[in-house]
Amino acid sequence: MKRDCFLSLFDDIDNGQFPEKYNVISLTTPIASPLNYTGGKFKLLPQILPLFPKQVETFVDLFCGGCNVGCNAAANRVVFNDNNEILIGLLEWFQQTDSETLFNSIESVIQKYELSNSMKYGYEYYNANGSDGLANANREGFQKLRDEFNGLDIRNSYYYLLLYVLIIFSFNNQIRFNRNDKFNLPVGKRDFNSKMRNKLWQFINRIQSIDCQFQCMDFNSINIDELSPQDFVYADPPYLITCATYNEQNGWNEDNERCLLNFLDELHESNIRFALSNVLKSKGKTNTILSDWVNQRKDRYFVEYLNFNYANSNYHTKDKSDSAEEVLIRNYR
Ligand SMILES: C[S@@+](CC[C@H](N)C(=O)[O-])C[C@H]1O[C@@H](n2cnc3c(N)ncnc32)[C@H](O)[C@@H]1O
Repeated sequence: MKRDCFLSLFDDIDNGQFPEKYNVISLTTPIASPLNYTGGKFKLLPQILPLFPKQVETFVDLFCGGCNVGCNAAANRVVFNDNNEILIGLLEWFQQTDSETLFNSIESVIQKYELSNSMKYGYEYYNANGSDGLANANREGFQKLRDEFNGLDIRNSYYYLLLYVLIIFSFNNQIRFNRNDKFNLPVGKRDFNSKMRNKLWQFINRIQSIDCQFQCMDFNSINIDELSPQDFVYADPPYLITCATYNEQNGWNEDNERCLLNFLDELHESNIRFALSNVLKSKGKTNTILSDWVNQRKDRYFVEYLNFNYANSNYHTKDKSDSAEEVLIRNYR
């Protein structure tokens, strides 16, 4: 493994070996996804995890996205499900690739496209400034990389390698494809800095050390008969009344919402525990489908109100119409 990759991660590295403390990632330390997922629940974990059942055989992360929840859940086995085929392919590549090979491959793509390495050379070397960060330094290389990626027609390891490097260097480290499956975000401000390396390293270690599998299915195609009362389903769907990339192109609508609520009712009837993340209100809008559903089932389902300001600092603002009512709805106590 190249020392450069990990200089600030492993400050105390002195003999080319990883310090022992980083070789073993504690399964009890919450780790953040290396994918910057809109609606990712990492910051809500301290509120959500204590509300989950203590004994779980299979934890189904039904809308796994960046996997922030499933990879921190206490369970014997985790199934990460999402209907985004490219996302699941990328996660499987993380799971199946040896971490040394993966980091070395990322480094070689960065070098090939002459993208910045601020960890090695510092920000000044690239004339990076506050508002644009490293965008100017990386614009040309990023464009070439994106062109090569968008020209690939086989989704193999090389495809996922280029995709991940694109994500590292893209605007807000997001993943976004147009209708023709072409990656269409512009260059971002950051590069493969120590924080990102750390997240990726910890995430790979976690998913390679727990019993887990990735599957690409519409939530509604999950066969409830294959689940047992020892299992647990966590649902973090796109929110009907907020906007994210996965809401685009009619990604989530009222029919999906109703279908999901039916699915959760079916889980309940089969004695399978579930928890649903959502917002009842946001920015002056109310999700009446959800609030009606839960109000009609007050004897069965329990609503926990969470501190919705995990993502921003407007908790104390006077105008509550601008705020969200983030909840976790459970069918158990
Ligand atoms: C709010 S995000 C999940 C974020 C995740 N909990 C985290 O912390 O990173 C919602 C996810 O649902 C997925 N999704 C949307 N519609 C779906 C469907 N019909 N079936 C399965 N997954 C779906 C999207 O691709 C997206 O990744």
